[in-house]
Amino acid sequence: MAGSKNDALKRALKNKKDEFYTQLSDIEKEMKYYREHFKGKTIFCNCDDPIDSNFFLYFELNFTQLGLKRLIATHYEVDKPSYMLEINKDEDGDGLITSKDIVKKKLKQNGDFRSPECIELLKQADIVITNPPFSLFREYVAQLMEYDKKFIIIGNQNALTYKEIFPLIKNNKMWFGLTMNGSNRYFRVPDSYELTEKTGKIEDGVKYAFVKGVRWFTNLDIPQRHEKLLLYKTYNPNDYPKYDNYDAINVDRVSDIPYDYDGVMGVPITFIDKYNPKQFKIVGWTLGRGDYEVGASKIYVNAKQYSNGKVSSGNKVNDGPTILYKNKPTGVYYTADNADGYLQILYARILIQKIEEDISNGN
Ligand SMILES: C[S@@+](CC[C@H](N)C(=O)[O-])C[C@H]1O[C@@H](n2cnc3c(N)ncnc32)[C@H](O)[C@@H]1O
Repeated sequence: MAGSKNDALKRALKNKKDEFYTQLSDIEKEMKYYREHFKGKTIFCNCDDPIDSNFFLYFELNFTQLGLKRLIATHYEVDKPSYMLEINKDEDGDGLITSKDIVKKKLKQNGDFRSPECIELLKQADIVITNPPFSLFREYVAQLMEYDKKFIIIGNQNALTYKEIFPLIKNNKMWFGLTMNGSNRYFRVPDSYELTEKTGKIEDGVKYAFVKGVRWFTNLDIPQRHEKLLLYKTYNPNDYPKYDNYDAINVDRVSDIPYDYDGVMGVPITFIDKYNPKQFKIVGWTLGRGDYEVGASKIYVNAKQYSNGKVSSGNKVNDGPTILYKNKPTGVYYTADNADGYLQILYARILIQKIEEDISNGN
């Protein structure tokens, strides 16, 4: 997983510090695609020290222009009561949102997004927008789902593989946003964070951690979800071999998806950025071991790995889609009691299928 290479994120998970502050420029780049969704809405930033958070700042600066109804941000304290900031309107009518328009209120509880007080605020909100703690991502998303909220949040793209998150992507309850795709990002971190040249940088005395694979996740409609992926390759069994342990063919690149194949296809994860639910359905995920709705059709027994002349336990072969070869392939390969040949394992794939309408159109 990309995340395992990421020291900064690993440290956040370990220490549960999670103090990664999103830069204003990153927020601006994404929010511009949702302007139509914001008009007349209450926005809640529920993992945001409002004094420090650029999320609060962005919506404060753009409150009038976006036609917001209300902006709320709660601050989290580990073990003491906290506070919230709120903007309801341009109170003094000077045409600008200034500090005079910001109302500070004490909270009885600590501002934990799961606290009853914050849940009450959540119920009043239309759209939740924040960068929640990486370590609580599953719980955070589950709560948004429970209260049926619209959201734009930041998470690690590896969250896609979580068994709580993947079904949401599959069932069109959540998708990636538009910006921050695939690149590395710098997030401001507290001075106390230790950084090396590899894990971050210091600019004008401010520390930034380098975080790989972060993405926006949302359930607000964006035009890109309606764009059709143009397919021009034709299917043939040599270029698109069947997996041995999934009932699907392998497609190595999203641009290689054949237009004339109506069965299940295993495609790279980058497909998610091109996913139009009117063109394809997602049927599963090749993480093996039957955890997902479409599990592996076969679990290898007594698997062995052969690498540079060394033989070791080969259980890893159950972690992904495999191709079966009659002759020994070059590179690392596997054998198993229930495999009639030599196996090679591929990267995790998303299993997709064109929806019927698209097949009949032949495009
Ligand atoms: C990744 S940081 C992001 C901060 C801010 N949203 C931003 O992007 O600039 C996560 C924030 O969530 C806060 N936090 C941690 N646990 C929390 C909880 N249980 N409830 C609410 N906020 C929490 C942390 O204090 C931290 O400020």
